[in-house]
Amino acid sequence: MSKTNKTNENYIGLEKDKIEEVAKSLNSYLADLNLLYVKIHNLHWNIEGSTFFQLHSVFEGYYEAIAKTLDEVAERMLILGHRPAASMKEYLDLSTLKELESKGLSAQESINILESDFLNMLSQSRSILTLAEDANDQGTVDLMAGLIGEYEKSLWMIKSFKTK
Ligand SMILES: [Fe+2]
Repeated sequence: MSKTNKTNENYIGLEKDKIEEVAKSLNSYLADLNLLYVKIHNLHWNIEGSTFFQLHSVFEGYYEAIAKTLDEVAERMLILGHRPAASMKEYLDLSTLKELESKGLSAQESINILESDFLNMLSQSRSILTLAEDANDQGTVDLMAGLIGEYEKSLWMIKSFKTK
């Protein structure tokens, strides 16, 4: 097996400059996932009203899925040769999402918050996929493609919940 000798390529044969751009976006995405992990706990705890039992458990499913996703994103960054942000301070600095104060929320309010944040994550996932494609980084393309499908499915469910 031959080792790459090109100085502009990293240890897995990907172009360093382009991968740096991918990693930068992944770090901001990771910050948003960490913020969302906390924020969806907030929804899980503070949802009130006749759909409490249903949404309380739906939100639990989402923060559990996010816990798994944020680990995959951080490890993808390490695979690419970049160190992921790993402190709350960095996450707050890097995140594009807004935190939520702790207060009672109606089903409509909580679902609207989730919808808006998932739309943001979907849009970022598509942008990162495009950057990764340009960098010939199939591993990140694959990770983002899977997540895009998950956000789209969640947004369809949210739309169905809101339709009446
Ligand atoms: Fe709980």
